[in-house]
Amino acid sequence: MKIAFVGKGGSGKTTLSSLFIRHLAAVGAHVVAIDADINQHLGAALGLDEAEAARLPAMGDRLALIKDYLRGTNPRIGSAESMIKTTPPGEGSRLLRVREDNPVYDACARPVELDGGAVRLMVTGPFTDADLGVACYHSKTGAVELCLNHLVDGPDEYVVVDMTAGSDSFASGMFTRFDITFLVAEPTRKGVSVYRQYKEYARDFGVELKVVGNKVQGQDDLDFLRAEVGDDLLVTVGHSDWVRAMEKGRPPRFEQLEDVNRRALDTLRTTADGTYERRDWERYTRQMVHFHLKNAQSWANERHGADLAAQVDPDFVLSEGVVEPA
Ligand SMILES: Nc1ncnc2c1ncn2[C@@H]1O[C@H](COP(=O)(O)OP(=O)(O)OP(=O)(O)O)[C@@H](O)[C@H]1O
Ligand SMILES: [Mg+2]
Repeated sequence: MKIAFVGKGGSGKTTLSSLFIRHLAAVGAHVVAIDADINQHLGAALGLDEAEAARLPAMGDRLALIKDYLRGTNPRIGSAESMIKTTPPGEGSRLLRVREDNPVYDACARPVELDGGAVRLMVTGPFTDADLGVACYHSKTGAVELCLNHLVDGPDEYVVVDMTAGSDSFASGMFTRFDITFLVAEPTRKGVSVYRQYKEYARDFGVELKVVGNKVQGQDDLDFLRAEVGDDLLVTVGHSDWVRAMEKGRPPRFEQLEDVNRRALDTLRTTADGTYERRDWERYTRQMVHFHLKNAQSWANERHGADLAAQVDPDFVLSEGVVEPA
């Protein structure tokens, strides 16, 4: 399952994605964790110290390698340079799997040991001004989108992405790449307004969106979220002393997380697991083609001096059953 955590700045995306990743690791699940947020804090939230976090290789700096690997022998893609973030896989392309070793993980992923097991962590790298807003070409999250479009994940495998709810994810097709999107919202008007905006974008693409209330204290907070987001409210998390202790640099063992918060994490997991049966690889492929054609027309054809619509393999449907070239 591919799972995104989005929300307003400071809402608790990194905290909740890191807790969810720890929860998955504790039950022995296979996890790839990706930090695609403007503020790169997932490594620290998973317990890396500053020096370790600083040493993480940035996916944004390794785009050429990623493209060259994923292109494989796809005859529709003449060179890695002609590949953009939305170039879809086709016959001959290489795909990514959660459990395998491959050159993309070698270059971009690092193992992080957690109580209960290790996960792979990948980071986009710090954002600069050029990454934000309309500068699609420079987008750091392009590397993540490319990987998600070439990823075939099975039922007991998880890719968890910590990302913003900002315009960057809507300028591309990134927000449609997940089996489920958890929107983290504090019980405030601002928190809820981000939800409304996301919901609006998501509606036309059938994006499965659930709200995770964070820093919810008491009935009044709960009533507020219920009234504002209705049935989209999946679960709420209160203030966590475990999180606070971790922030002080004294992480307790994960077993010591408050029961009520562990139950909330389990609800996230069963909800994510429940999406697998409804997964529609044809629609997933159609949507990546849609965004590729949109990108090709709006900026990429002009930049590359070629019609990048020709990169689309009309007969290809991404799925767990695709057989790749040796
Ligand atoms: N449930 C919680 N209990 C205690 N502290 C929390 C909780 N959720 C978030 N926090 C604290 O609130 C702060 C902001 O959380 P976090 O960094 O996860 O938000 P974010 O949405 O990722 O922010 P940014 O947009 O800056 O990336 C952090 O200091 C975090 O430790
Ligand atoms: Mg964050």
